[in-house]
Amino acid sequence: MANVDVSSKFHEAPSHPNEGPPFLEDADGKFERYWNRASFRFSHKLSGHPLFELDSLVELSRRMPKCADFAYWSNGTEGPGNHWGTRGKSLSLPDTIAGIAENNSLVLIKHAWQDEVYGPVLQSCLSEAVELCGEQLRDDVILGNATILIASPNRVTPYHIDWDCNFLMQIAGDKKLHVFNGADRTLLTVGELEGFCSGNINSAIYQPAREKDAAVYDLGAGDGVHVPVHAPHWAQNGNNISVALSVNYELRSEHRKSDLYQLQHWGRRAGLKPRGPERAGLAWKAAAVALRTARGLRKLIRPSNDGVPTRWQPS
Ligand SMILES: [Fe+2]
Repeated sequence: MANVDVSSKFHEAPSHPNEGPPFLEDADGKFERYWNRASFRFSHKLSGHPLFELDSLVELSRRMPKCADFAYWSNGTEGPGNHWGTRGKSLSLPDTIAGIAENNSLVLIKHAWQDEVYGPVLQSCLSEAVELCGEQLRDDVILGNATILIASPNRVTPYHIDWDCNFLMQIAGDKKLHVFNGADRTLLTVGELEGFCSGNINSAIYQPAREKDAAVYDLGAGDGVHVPVHAPHWAQNGNNISVALSVNYELRSEHRKSDLYQLQHWGRRAGLKPRGPERAGLAWKAAAVALRTARGLRKLIRPSNDGVPTRWQPS
C-alpha cells in the first residue's frame, strides 16, 4: 500500500462538529428497533448541501491522500451479477468524477470525515446514527467510516455483502436499491459467508430467481436505507448522476462471528465438519478467542506502519 500524503488537509477535522440541526431523521424510532436486524427506510437533510456538488467532490479528490485505501473507482459497464474489482480504471479519479455524467463509472471516496472541509458534516452523521440507535450500538462499535458514492446515470452496483452495518443516504439522483435478508441461509449460504470472512469479497453469488425476495427501495434525494451487516444488496441508478453517503460501522459482535466463520472455513478445508457458527461448540468458540488474542498481540508487537489513519470512534 502506498504511503499517505499527509500534506493534504486531512487529519485536521474538528472533533466536536455537531453544532447545527441534525442531518438524520427518525420520527418513528426505527433506528433503535431495527438496526442490524432488518433493512428500513429513513429520511435525511443532506440533499442540496454544496459539499456534495460535483465541483466540490472533484476538489476533495484532488487534495485527499494518494492512497489506495482512500478511493475506489471503476470505469465501464456493470451488471448485478458482476464481481467487485473486475472493471479497470481507464481515467484518473478527478477526471472520473468530473465526467461522471458520461463515463459510466462508480466512485467511492473513503475517510473524508478526516478532511478539514467535509469533516464537520460527516462526523455529525456518524455521531447522529449512533445516538439514534442507542447504547447497544455505541457499545458494539469498533470503528466508523463515511464513504461518499458517486455514480453515472443507469450505473449498476453489483450484488455483494459488506462486513459493516450501513446507513445509506441518497443525496442527488435516484436509484433502486435491492436488499435481501442476510439471515436466509438458502440465499446466503454458510459456504458463502465462510468464503467472505476468509477474504473472498465476491463469495456471495447473485441468484436472479430470488429477486422476488428482495426489499426494493425507490430512493430519491433525501431518502435513506439501513442495510444490516451481511445483508446482500445491489443497486440500479436512475437516468441521472447519483451522489450518496454511506455511514457505516464495524461491530465487535460481528467480528466475533466472522472469526468463527473463518476458523470453520479453515477447519472444513482440513477435513473437519463444523456445524456453522450459529451452532458452534465451545471448542470452536475458544479457538476464535485464541485467534482474536493472537491478532491483538501481533498488532502490539508489530503495529501497522502503512500510514492509514485511525478511523472514527464514538465519543
Ligand atoms: Fe454495499
